[in-house]
Amino acid sequence: QAAAAPANKPKQMVLPDAQTVTEVKHWTDRLFSFRVSRPASLRFRSGEFVMIGLMGDPDPKTGKQKPLLRAYSIASPSWDEELEFYSIKVQDGPLTSKLQHIQPGDEIILRPKPVGTLVHDALLPGKRIWFFATGTGFAPFASLLREPQTYEDYDEVIITHTCREAAELHYGAELIENLKTDELLNEVIGEGFWKKIKYYPTTTREESPKMGRITDLMRSGEAFADLDVPVIHPETDRAMICGNLAFNLELKEMLEEYGLVEGANSDPQHYVVEKAFLD
Ligand code: A2P
Repeated sequence: QAAAAPANKPKQMVLPDAQTVTEVKHWTDRLFSFRVSRPASLRFRSGEFVMIGLMGDPDPKTGKQKPLLRAYSIASPSWDEELEFYSIKVQDGPLTSKLQHIQPGDEIILRPKPVGTLVHDALLPGKRIWFFATGTGFAPFASLLREPQTYEDYDEVIITHTCREAAELHYGAELIENLKTDELLNEVIGEGFWKKIKYYPTTTREESPKMGRITDLMRSGEAFADLDVPVIHPETDRAMICGNLAFNLELKEMLEEYGLVEGANSDPQHYVVEKAFLD
């Protein structure tokens, strides 16, 4: 028999657009990923982002609470039953200082309006696609790397990931390793589809097998030699960029120098950019 709630117990807030957390993984003291239930009506294209968040603290004067929302790339592919996100933890960040403590069973707010430019529709057909990421900018590519269309559209898929420290590469490295046994992709694309992928992780502030910023490694030609591919050319190469602002700008300039033109949903071209959103 259920006991009546004590009169002084605060009423449970009913979150607008609530989704339930199903899994949380902490990768480093600065990075975590989590999965939430997916609204039945939510359709999105792999690579897009949505606004997610939590209720903010009550206003000291009015006591009212407002949602605290940030843009997050969906890291799971469009066919997945749940939604996955990959996030930084900023100790004094308004949202991530709280979000990092979520547990399975908790609720978060998810506004079901996906948007974004890192979508296949924004690119012209090509032979090879480059995904360029730094830090949590890997998230949209975690979606696109699990998306069958990526392998249907391209002969070769190159993912570069530059992080400060080696442990920050683990989320991406594990995801790529798991592609080998991904049943859906093996069935739809064919066994061994993952051989189309070239993974190029680099670190800048800690020893690892490949050190340096991807931009510098491309300028020197080292990245192309390591990957055994010709220098980027608008006839064959397509690219998507997602990282910190300085990285996006620098790489965008380099791609333009190679002759690539920026595309959009309404005007597909050779490359697209999106920034990794920080708290
Ligand atoms: P670096 O350590 O040399 O700054 P952050 O954590 O600051 O967002 O950076 C993530 C990664 O992106 C780091 O390895 C950083 O290298 C790298 N990075 C930052 N700015 C650029 C840039 N303009 N071009 C290439 N890589 C960059």
